[in-house]
Amino acid sequence: MASVSAYLRKNRQRNLDELIDLLRIPSISTDPGRNKDVRKAAQFVKKHLADSGCTKTELIDTPGHPIVYGEWMKAPKGAPTVLVYGHYDVQPPEPLDLWETPPFEPTIRKGKLFARGSADDKGQYIIHPNALRAHLETNGTCPVNVKFLIEGEEEIGSPNLDPFIKKNLKKLKCDVVVISDTHMMGKKTPSICHGLRGLAYLEIEVTGTKADLHSGTFGGAVVNPANALVEMLATLKDARGKIKVHGFYDDVRKLTPKERREYKKLPHDDEKYRRSLGAPALWGEKGFSTLERISARPTLDINGIWGGYQGEGAKTVIPAKAYAKISCRLVPDQDSKDIAKKVQAYLKLVSPDSVKVKVKSLHGGEAWVAPTDHPALQAGSRAFKRAFGKDALFTREGGSIPVVATFDKLMKVPTVLLGIGLPDDGLHAPNEKMDVDQFHRGTEAAAYLLEELAR
Ligand code: BES
Ligand code: ZN
Repeated sequence: MASVSAYLRKNRQRNLDELIDLLRIPSISTDPGRNKDVRKAAQFVKKHLADSGCTKTELIDTPGHPIVYGEWMKAPKGAPTVLVYGHYDVQPPEPLDLWETPPFEPTIRKGKLFARGSADDKGQYIIHPNALRAHLETNGTCPVNVKFLIEGEEEIGSPNLDPFIKKNLKKLKCDVVVISDTHMMGKKTPSICHGLRGLAYLEIEVTGTKADLHSGTFGGAVVNPANALVEMLATLKDARGKIKVHGFYDDVRKLTPKERREYKKLPHDDEKYRRSLGAPALWGEKGFSTLERISARPTLDINGIWGGYQGEGAKTVIPAKAYAKISCRLVPDQDSKDIAKKVQAYLKLVSPDSVKVKVKSLHGGEAWVAPTDHPALQAGSRAFKRAFGKDALFTREGGSIPVVATFDKLMKVPTVLLGIGLPDDGLHAPNEKMDVDQFHRGTEAAAYLLEELAR
């Protein structure tokens, strides 16, 4: 067999250039003003899949942004089928003034490619079509069949993905799912993620009066909805970080002593971590280590809070309305709908009669954890060892990719999270980057994974 790795070394520039072209497209799924760009990115992905050797590619319209599908199904008889999932949509780039170079003008500085979407997820999903192409162009064939499902709504909670999967179980039929949309512990510490948290996302609206009021004329007559809101929010957690929503922890799966021993073995230094975040101190639920708290314990956080005057200088006003957005990161076996209901019920309970409170559930998804000795995860580990020269560790992460639980539930297939990002990539933040070395090594790992999965 000719060398796939030699081919990839020769084609580094081409792979990088194509990624840079895709990164120039501002496919911000949450911004209706960018719908055309989102579609343009979908068309790019479709064309790139075809250029990579897919014999069939489709752009499938949904009520939201399009789903891109592609396949190459000519592997030797009996070979497994791999379904690659990824997303071509990105988060908004704001605040723009904190970017050193503009978010949609990809720039390489000191071996790092800066652009919105470079790590999440354009620079990660694309290693898989590149890996297929490397096999096809070196050997004329690939050891496994490959299907691609690349969506454009991941960053807004994938509202049209589960219905699509339900309707297309046959089309998507596979033996294993592969996703690169997470990170490894460090450049020299390859790791495979075997657990993700779920999510329940809520928005609260508190209304006091029919319009804003002069805070001198009316101050003292009515409850200020912003005051009411912060009082309600302050009751959600106790001083030690325990969430007080009734029944919140009912279904939380306890870590086993063995799992806790595995956590202790992972290389992690609280002081280094604290410094890397620029935080005066680390804080969280008592009785759990930092790594446990950020991946195996549920959380409740205010993601945004607003109302009243936000401009320059002072304005004396009692706002008519105040708002907050709240997210709960969930762990097995919590159910996102159940948690959303419990938080809603709790907020109703603690809301004063003097204001009106509406709590909307925006979206959610379920947590997932897989046994590390699963043959598919072991194949991922071997692929990383070949590309990075070191045994991969197994970690759980705190972020969410809800479709992983969907694949598990609806298709009963394992998922390998071959994440090639790094912890300091700056996902969802200014100056998001992809380390260029990681990108090339990651592409190699993706190519090896196709071989390892055929074993
Ligand atoms: N790539 C991330 C998920 C991620 C990040 C997993 C880091 C593990 C480590 C993904 O694009 C993302 O941001 N997902 C959202 C979930 C969604 C339902 C909006 C998230 O985790 O906030
Ligand atoms: Zn992502």
